[in-house]
Amino acid sequence: MKVLVIGNGGREHALAWRIRQSPQVREVLVAPGNAGTAFEPGMRNAPVAPTDIDGLLALARQERVDLTVVGPEAPLSLGIVDRFQASGLRCFGPTQAAAQLEASKAFTKAFLERHRIPTAQYRVFTDLDSAKAYVRDRGAPIVVKADGLAAGKGVVVAQSVAEAESALDAMLGGDSVGAAGHRVVIEDFLAGEEASYIVIADGTNYIALATSQDHKRRDDGDLGPNTGGMGAYSPAPVVTAAVDAQVRREIIEPTLAAMRAEGHPFVGFLYAGLMIHHGRASVLEYNVRCGDPETQPIMLRLKSDVIELYQAAIDGRLSQVACAWDPRSAVGVVLAAEGYPGPVRKGDPIGGLSVTQLPEVKVFHAGTRLRDGVATTDGGRVLTVCALGDTLLAARRLAYQRVESIQWPGMFCRRDIGVRGLVNSSA
Ligand code: AMP
Ligand code: GLY
Repeated sequence: MKVLVIGNGGREHALAWRIRQSPQVREVLVAPGNAGTAFEPGMRNAPVAPTDIDGLLALARQERVDLTVVGPEAPLSLGIVDRFQASGLRCFGPTQAAAQLEASKAFTKAFLERHRIPTAQYRVFTDLDSAKAYVRDRGAPIVVKADGLAAGKGVVVAQSVAEAESALDAMLGGDSVGAAGHRVVIEDFLAGEEASYIVIADGTNYIALATSQDHKRRDDGDLGPNTGGMGAYSPAPVVTAAVDAQVRREIIEPTLAAMRAEGHPFVGFLYAGLMIHHGRASVLEYNVRCGDPETQPIMLRLKSDVIELYQAAIDGRLSQVACAWDPRSAVGVVLAAEGYPGPVRKGDPIGGLSVTQLPEVKVFHAGTRLRDGVATTDGGRVLTVCALGDTLLAARRLAYQRVESIQWPGMFCRRDIGVRGLVNSSA
């Protein structure tokens, strides 16, 4: 088989790497990919942007691709799956209608409320004055969210009414995240601990992937600005067996059933961002794709043939397949470029990539680019250094050991990835 993976992040490198290991796969094309996917044996980059649906269709036809796997949300919300299917091409992911679970927070909140799926109480506004009046009435802390896709920049967790009001000024009154912020969701602040719960779904059935936890703030101790994610580990002990059962029963199963009942059966990766408080989970958000960086440690632990999972999901027979996980823990540490999550310095050659790799260690690329055969920095999140270990502690140690050998000017990372897992598992 020839498989096309769409995207250029660490998530896509990890997805493509696992796909390439399937005995059924001869070659993996990545559009547009990065230096890491360019280096992998049996993998090739194709210079087509993830939002260029016509270009991707032409590529898939020309290369006679057997299966396309979509990494990021943007092409999904543009309807890439509908377009590929209409052309008779196999493409894994939700349709445009199903992708609304990520593309519109107002749609998702109304959906969750309608189906009594646990989530924070909320209201939707397009008018600045009434939004401010609601915030003053409700008090702080309170959360202001742009309705549309805002590449992780559309959420403000306001500690004071003034902070919420200035977020509203920037979104509704101004243009801080463009049209995505001209309608906002204001929701109650939820206390607790976050976890990522990702399932692969075929419209009716699903298989839960291994649990994980992301670290969204830039600095150690969960301080500093929000980022796309500075590291992740799997499994996440905060998702106990009891929490897992509640998430399936009260969140995942009713969501899939309701999407089906409303005429948009969900096929693809459904990612529930959870807030867990006193052993009960609520939905903070849905994503209609895998998480980045959660995918990197999760793929390290996946033992089954991932092609079987994609094929079964597309064909609606996930109930007939099983999924095996490495019992060990996996940790992924993001190495970022100076300036991230703001504008970053680019173009620095990355040192230390060619160090002999242990089988338990894998360096996934994200914002990298090949220049004259050398991997150079080309984005905010540059690499995710991953390792497996018999314990979370051992996996962390190995990952950070590998981090030590990598360098470029201005590189930084968090030093405490996985620390909450250590606290929870010893508690
Ligand atoms: P989202 O893009 O909706 O996941 O929001 C980004 C981050 O904001 C989440 O990962 C949480 O850390 C935080 N957040 C979002 N909604 C809430 C909420 N209702 N209560 C507390 N924190 C939240
Ligand atoms: N790591 C968070 C996300 O992928 O949305």
